[in-house]
Amino acid sequence: MLSKVAYTTTARAFRASSTFRPVRFASTQAGPFGANRKAAMMWFTKAAAASAIVGYGISNYVLTDDRMAPVYKAVSEASTELKKKAKEFGIELEIPFTVAHAFSTADHGLHPPHYPWDHYSPWKSYDHASIRRGFQVYKEVCSACHSMDYIYYRNLVGVSHTEAEAKALAAEYEYEDGPDDSGQMFMRPGKLTDAMPKPYPNEEAARAANGGAYPPDLSCIVRARHGEEDYIFALLLGYCDPPAGVNIREGLHYNPYFPGGAIAMARSIFDEVVDYEDGTPNNASQLAKDVTTFLSWASYPEHDERKKMGLKTLAISAMLLGLSVWWKRFKWSYVKSKKIVYRPGKFDEV
Ligand code: HEC
Repeated sequence: MLSKVAYTTTARAFRASSTFRPVRFASTQAGPFGANRKAAMMWFTKAAAASAIVGYGISNYVLTDDRMAPVYKAVSEASTELKKKAKEFGIELEIPFTVAHAFSTADHGLHPPHYPWDHYSPWKSYDHASIRRGFQVYKEVCSACHSMDYIYYRNLVGVSHTEAEAKALAAEYEYEDGPDDSGQMFMRPGKLTDAMPKPYPNEEAARAANGGAYPPDLSCIVRARHGEEDYIFALLLGYCDPPAGVNIREGLHYNPYFPGGAIAMARSIFDEVVDYEDGTPNNASQLAKDVTTFLSWASYPEHDERKKMGLKTLAISAMLLGLSVWWKRFKWSYVKSKKIVYRPGKFDEV
């Protein structure tokens, strides 16, 4: 009888302990990183600080260019030797990381400075007066060489021009249409549904007229270039004399922001080349800013709508978040206020 009681009690104790015992170091028992959690945290903190100091020392005083030069040389000689040997067996070996590509601003283009564009603020739309002036600059200067195939006159309505103005702008150009009843193509004045007129009929004609270089379509140029607005603005005004020792081929122009430094487009923005109807000063930097804003809108026509939607989304989700926090507390309240108690049975019950 006694043995049976002892057995069941042990079994019950075992069951209880294996289910409920919290896993934790006793303060006297040594863990792998110290006696308890606090000691382990101290150990890791010291280890991190020591590695940072040692790493800093190695990178600053051991791995200097002077000291590493013989190592680089040895590695490069060994890899050249290896390539030569491999070639004897007819294998073209490519060994990565042994060729040094020096970074130079001439190859990659000078990084443009950041300009405080109005529309960069999360609360602001485009400056639409600037888009309107920028369209004028595009029309009077850039459109001589650059197409904008994806911008239609109807896109300007409500953005930079009224419907009547956009219709009048379109009607300034003749577009081919047809065929008519006799099967002939004919010319008609432009309509809102027409795209910006093309300066050249095709890419070949554009290249022929620009010394072999192709003036890219400007519809998405802001989106298509690293640096976006900053790059376009810096490029338009960045022309200067080439530094000593840099020779620019006939027909190319020096511009440090253009990768490679030699661009086929000549400077086209000068003070007062466009007369603004709204009395804005028409110096070169103003013209460049306006045309860049226009090109930015052309690349991101959904920009204003997107920000408006974003603000609405934030406002509505903030409300929903508040509601869901309230709902969660309501739903969980009886779980949170419940108390689970373990009450061992009496020996007699067994
Ligand atoms: C006389 C013709 C001509 C005019 C006018 C002109 N461009 Fe260009 N543009 C070119 C050519 C040609 C290229 C190609 C340059 C190259 O690849 O070297 C080019 C290239 C560009 C590029 C691309 C640069 C890059 O990173 O690839 C941009 C942006 C540009 N032009 C903007 C403008 C703007 C804005 C205007 C109006 C203010 C304008 N261009 C006026 C001929 C012109």
